[in-house]
Amino acid sequence: MTNREQWSSNLGFLAAAVGSAVGLGNMWRFSYLTAEKGGAAFVALYLFFTLAIGLPVMLAELTLGRGAKKSPILALTHFGGERWRSLGWLFVLTGFVILSYYSVIAGWTIRYAAEAIFLGVPLNPGSKFSEISQGSDAFIYHVFFMAIVMGIVVRGVSRGIERVSIVAMPLLFLFVCSIAIYAATLEGAGAGYLYYLNADFANAFAIDVVVSAAGQAFFSLSLGMGAIMTFASYLPPKSDLPRETVMIGGLDFGIAFLAGLMVFPIIFALGIQADVGESTLGALFVALPKAFAAMGGAGRVVAIFFFSALVVGALTSAISLLEVVVSAAVDGLNWSRKRSVWVAGTSIAFLGSFAAWNIEVLDLMDQVANNLLLLVGGLALSIFVGWSMRDPVSEVQIGSQISRPAMVVWHQLLRWAVPVVLLFVLWHSVPSTLVNVWNFLSDP
Ligand code: TRP
Repeated sequence: MTNREQWSSNLGFLAAAVGSAVGLGNMWRFSYLTAEKGGAAFVALYLFFTLAIGLPVMLAELTLGRGAKKSPILALTHFGGERWRSLGWLFVLTGFVILSYYSVIAGWTIRYAAEAIFLGVPLNPGSKFSEISQGSDAFIYHVFFMAIVMGIVVRGVSRGIERVSIVAMPLLFLFVCSIAIYAATLEGAGAGYLYYLNADFANAFAIDVVVSAAGQAFFSLSLGMGAIMTFASYLPPKSDLPRETVMIGGLDFGIAFLAGLMVFPIIFALGIQADVGESTLGALFVALPKAFAAMGGAGRVVAIFFFSALVVGALTSAISLLEVVVSAAVDGLNWSRKRSVWVAGTSIAFLGSFAAWNIEVLDLMDQVANNLLLLVGGLALSIFVGWSMRDPVSEVQIGSQISRPAMVVWHQLLRWAVPVVLLFVLWHSVPSTLVNVWNFLSDP
């Protein structure tokens, strides 16, 4: 009916969606949370939440996007009427906030990758990190990264996003696999595997572990802000959505798991677990370069692969974040893609400059986005599809062979399990997040 852009192939869509899901969340955030929250038990919980709440919400986003063929704000009003418009706005706002600090971290990874290629591994990663992670250096790389993302998104869905993703994803997989294999050959790697894979459930049920595992499942799958919904709006009407959900979820978890198989053996083989124990935002950027430096010649190659994988992952994720904002402007304001990319991209780069200048702002934005915005977005979305939307079960089944009972289970998960889990998580994460914001604002 319209001349809406489309993916040129199903594989292209899959690459782009996996590209959105696989990013800094899988490598940087997953490893530092696993280290901070005590290893394998956290991984098990994260897998559980991916299956129980992540995949149902992903399927909900795919269903809305494909059915409406519109960007999230209009997709929600298409299925739910005016009442649900504001949820679409929340999505756009969330995309705005996440991309603005995500791009700063991505900027660090470009810097590290470039230095590993041209100069070698830094000898004093601690001071290196504090030098480049805030201030004008961080700002310049952040703007550089945003410019690349804008340059890709402006070319459109199939000529820009799809083409890049279809090359980027196999490349990333290759990088991560080679490092994981190399890590297995290191002497002392065993202790790393033990830490990573041997679950001690004693403290797995600490509330903050549960809360971060649920939040991570959401973040890693790119849920709660319409990113997957936006990509699904460029799908042909008969795509098999349950199948796509399983593929995207499986690959996303697979890459996070592989990332653990590269990070933990390296850390333990080189005896730097103490650095990771007190894990924070910067841990990987300090601890791992220390390990790379200690590996001698091979360390430089590993560093190049590792940081290139981060750059590639960050790039395809950032593309999806920008596309949410851009598609809202294209569909809602009738702007050209070029104008939308230009306006959205520069304003996001501007907001991100605060995170580039001060790492505490970055940390705060990460907390607000993950502990608040994404969870509220996901909660509202599950309530919409679970309770308010008319006959989602028939809608999701279009193009799929899957049985009706299976989809009824999906609907019930959205009605009950997802809202209950998300409310529980919000209940515990909102107060501390607000306190942190308050403390920062009253004493910056
Ligand atoms: N999933 C990405 C990662 O793991 C980050 C990301 C991209 C994202 N798009 C998103 C997170 C949308 C939440 C919502 O790095």
